[in-house]
Amino acid sequence: MKHLIDPTDFTKEEIDEIIEYGEYIIANRELFRDKLRYHKLATLFYEPSTRTRLSFTSAMMELGGNVLGFSDARSSSVAKGESVGDTALTVGNFVDVIAMRHPLEGAPYVASKVSKVPIINAGDGSHAHPTQTLTDLLTIKRELGHIDNITIGFCGDLRFGRTVHSLIKALSRYKGIDIVLISPDEMRLPDYIKSDVCDKLGLRYKEVRSIEEVIGELDVLYMTRVQKERFLDEDEFERVKDSFVLDCEKLKGAKPDMAILHPLPRVNEIRQEVDADPRAAYFRQVENGKFVRMSLICKLLEWKDDPSHSMPAHPEYFHDPGRHCRNTKCICNHENVTPLFHETESGIVRCVYCDSKV
Ligand code: CP
Repeated sequence: MKHLIDPTDFTKEEIDEIIEYGEYIIANRELFRDKLRYHKLATLFYEPSTRTRLSFTSAMMELGGNVLGFSDARSSSVAKGESVGDTALTVGNFVDVIAMRHPLEGAPYVASKVSKVPIINAGDGSHAHPTQTLTDLLTIKRELGHIDNITIGFCGDLRFGRTVHSLIKALSRYKGIDIVLISPDEMRLPDYIKSDVCDKLGLRYKEVRSIEEVIGELDVLYMTRVQKERFLDEDEFERVKDSFVLDCEKLKGAKPDMAILHPLPRVNEIRQEVDADPRAAYFRQVENGKFVRMSLICKLLEWKDDPSHSMPAHPEYFHDPGRHCRNTKCICNHENVTPLFHETESGIVRCVYCDSKV
């Protein structure tokens, strides 16, 4: 059975199939009205969301299916201490597929290990957000006509921005990608993404300190919000929160067909005046999120019993009582799950649940 926990759970061919099917759905919406009649999706959201939860809901409704779930875990038996695994096992008796958002990193992965139905990671802590990645890829394809051979600038919070981490992993499978990382020191991309994704897979990247010095090179500018909820130190958040703000003045040096993406919500990082610029693609990106989730749900159900679409082989996992994951937001430090580790090709030991270096 295929789950979507991390973008690399899908082959490039499977990702391309989902993107292309999403484009087919956009062109033939009337054909999909009853596609998943009598099917059910559960949205288990332990953390706030507008776009992801409602686009999943809208996607399933547009396919003729039904949706149940919770948007506040305090109203469920989670409040009585029920584990992520038991919740997924229980809800799997009621539905065909589960979309889960959780503040703890690795929670959807834990659910996928016991679930009888496909689990979709709808965002786990600062770790991954693979359905946003599918949304971003479909948006890039629709805005530029292609995904290969682009220069993409990631701007803002590259440290906690799970959408950035997931999109970089996915782009590593495409040809001719140049990445420009635009952030202050406090919010730089984690080393494990640079070493295990960019360096290992030969993704070209450079780090700069301002939008202005690179904007003329970019085909895509991917803006991000500084995520107050992920900072442990409020002073640090106050120092960096307004580091990068995109306005019409800064856009003067950009290519005429550059696409501006943002996973949203935004706070201050894109001035409202930019919304009227035809290059502002972030609300079109929101709509693409519904279509790509329609495509994803259809494909996961189609692939469920097809052994040619199983989960990828992973490196050997091991338990070592002498090691523990130091990430306080990792599921293994909150629930009764066996801490597991794996060693990367470069000899670094990482937590299986959250990818932190151990
Ligand atoms: N892009 C995104 O994940 O938005 P929400 O947090 O509103 O779901």
